[in-house]
Amino acid sequence: MAAEVKLAVRGAGKRYGEMDALKDCSLDVAPNSIVSIVGPSGCGKTTLLWSMSGLHGLTSGEVLLDGRRITGPHPDIGLVFQEANLLPWRNLMDNILFPFEVKHQKPDHGWIAHLLERVGLTGFEKNFPNELSGGMQQRASIVRALSLRPSVLLMDEPFGALDAFTREEMNQLVEEIWMETHTTIVFITHSIEEALFLSDKVVVLTPRPGRVLNTYEVPFERPRTMEIMAGKEVYDLTYRIKADIYGQSRMQARAAE
Ligand SMILES: Nc1ncnc2c1ncn2[C@@H]1O[C@H](COP(=O)(O)OP(=O)(O)OP(=O)(O)O)[C@@H](O)[C@H]1O
Ligand SMILES: [Mg+2]
Repeated sequence: MAAEVKLAVRGAGKRYGEMDALKDCSLDVAPNSIVSIVGPSGCGKTTLLWSMSGLHGLTSGEVLLDGRRITGPHPDIGLVFQEANLLPWRNLMDNILFPFEVKHQKPDHGWIAHLLERVGLTGFEKNFPNELSGGMQQRASIVRALSLRPSVLLMDEPFGALDAFTREEMNQLVEEIWMETHTTIVFITHSIEEALFLSDKVVVLTPRPGRVLNTYEVPFERPRTMEIMAGKEVYDLTYRIKADIYGQSRMQARAAE
């Protein structure tokens, strides 16, 4: 069954000093799937994502990409954060080209132009970040990540700073991009609605130290219509995931009393 797993986290543990951020956390991400990770604030989601990227090591356990252990940053893995992190002194195109310069790699200009068109940024190539809205900056950071053609895209609350309408647009954009590229995506969010709209699987983590509490399959076809998203199955899943998360924090608060 190894061929069915693109990214595997096995018994991940991460200690910061005396504190366990992750403990015995294991999950599988199937190739070409979208997996969302939700859980209470501070439960270790970002820690987990960084370990998947190879940028931060684990204290115990391992992360496998295509069956091989990740020991450092990997060219096959792209990252998108809550902040777009564009360089303010470079225009949009030069921001997208920056990783290619760092890696001494030749950019595929045709692919970049296609991605810019896909996300509605054609014509803004010469604009500087302060001339772009928050949503446009975030779209640019998605293009920057995808221009390198990663087989895995890791996204840490990429739309958390955007207003609700822009966020919905961005969710549709990710869905469209996924339907075209089938890039494997791991997506961290605090929005259960967003998780259910985008994912094949939602993983709920426990409060710190984070490990997997529950995993929910989301079997709806794509594109996911408003009818699907307003349906009883989505309602039921939302309820169960909320019960997982809020039930936990309430129990935590009681334990602290
Ligand atoms: N570099 C670090 N040094 C020490 N402690 C850290 C470090 N990074 C994270 N932590 C701690 O590890 C725990 C998990 O942090 P992490 O950022 O992974 O949580 P999170 O689930 O992403 O939270 P949020 O939902 O608020 O983004 C937190 O208690 C945090 O304070
Ligand atoms: Mg985080």
